[in-house]
Amino acid sequence: MSQPALQPVPRVGLVGWRGMVGSVLMQRMSEERDFDAIETTFFSTSTAGKPAPKITGCKVFDPILRDGNDVNALKTMDIIITCQGGDYTKAIYKPLREAGWKGHWIDASKILRMDDDAIIILDPINMPVIKTALSKGISNWIGGNCTVSCMLMGVGALYKAGLVEWMQTSTYQAASGGGAPNMRELLVQYGALYAEVKDLLDDPASAILEIDRKVTAKQRAFTPEETTNFRGIPLGGNLIPWIDADRGDGTSLEEWKGGAETNKIMGLGSMFGTPEIPIDSTCVRIGSMRCHSQSLTFKLKKDVPLADIEDMIKNDNPWAKFVPNERVATETQLTAKNVAGTMNIPVGRVRKLAMGPEYLGTFTIGDQLLWGAAEPLRRMLRIIQGDIA
Ligand code: HSE
Repeated sequence: MSQPALQPVPRVGLVGWRGMVGSVLMQRMSEERDFDAIETTFFSTSTAGKPAPKITGCKVFDPILRDGNDVNALKTMDIIITCQGGDYTKAIYKPLREAGWKGHWIDASKILRMDDDAIIILDPINMPVIKTALSKGISNWIGGNCTVSCMLMGVGALYKAGLVEWMQTSTYQAASGGGAPNMRELLVQYGALYAEVKDLLDDPASAILEIDRKVTAKQRAFTPEETTNFRGIPLGGNLIPWIDADRGDGTSLEEWKGGAETNKIMGLGSMFGTPEIPIDSTCVRIGSMRCHSQSLTFKLKKDVPLADIEDMIKNDNPWAKFVPNERVATETQLTAKNVAGTMNIPVGRVRKLAMGPEYLGTFTIGDQLLWGAAEPLRRMLRIIQGDIA
């Protein structure tokens, strides 16, 4: 398998640039001047023929939106980046390859993630895996599950060092993981709950149990229209300890991804001829906007001094930020409010656990739209161009 040599200025087709992940990607590509060294063509599955968007720093090669379902138009691209979603990948990827297209396919959706000829990209953590694949002619580069990517950006050092015997995670996942409508629905519910008890809140003499009773009654009275995005369950003032499909074995699809994708990213498992590290998760949706948090328990293969573990986390990559295991540092740095919209991946609550010196607890948080979705895609473009080594 081999790819054609890349043009000095590659032609890059962008699909799904208007949605939430796509918009974050466009913003990051502008900030990092990724458009300077590419010829960009924007594709659309709904408004082909309309003018291409004006995105800061992007001098479009093609002023017209091309049809995202037109395989012949897509075939002229050296690289395609899609945030259009799984249905698009299912419909277009195969016909495009069958038509003889040999370009690089960079995809935010999960559809191809576990395929043998696809790599899950998270280069600060798995650059050796990416480089080996590039040298073998692999050309499918798929963004990982947001929870997995944010976790590995924080504690990938422990995996790289081969220290992890097993890991268990309990997640606290933001509404954005469900999509933009889920975030809107959450805020509308918060507003409705507040409105329900505003008069009582304004009265300092009102009873808190009466306020609580009214809030709970309101949650239970939300209509199907007010709760469409989380399958009829209100997230406002609530939590939902199940994310994604029921696999029928007591785990959710999101939980399965935790183990399968972490191993694949690290180059472990049957695809690489090595044993997998056991990883188990309980994935929970909570009412925050765009940051996924996780409480991690590790069993390490040996007793490593805490100071060494802290140094490994600090030195692994420029975005992992070690947070001292103290109250004020944790309250001010290890929160969604602090991290949303930033590239930082704080890692804190790092401590040995009561079960023994090989047991390690940590807590980490990341913006699931940045490292969890858009950032690995734009970095893969730069890796292909030789700009990130
Ligand atoms: N599946 C994730 C979530 C988002 O629902 O939070 C995409 O990786």
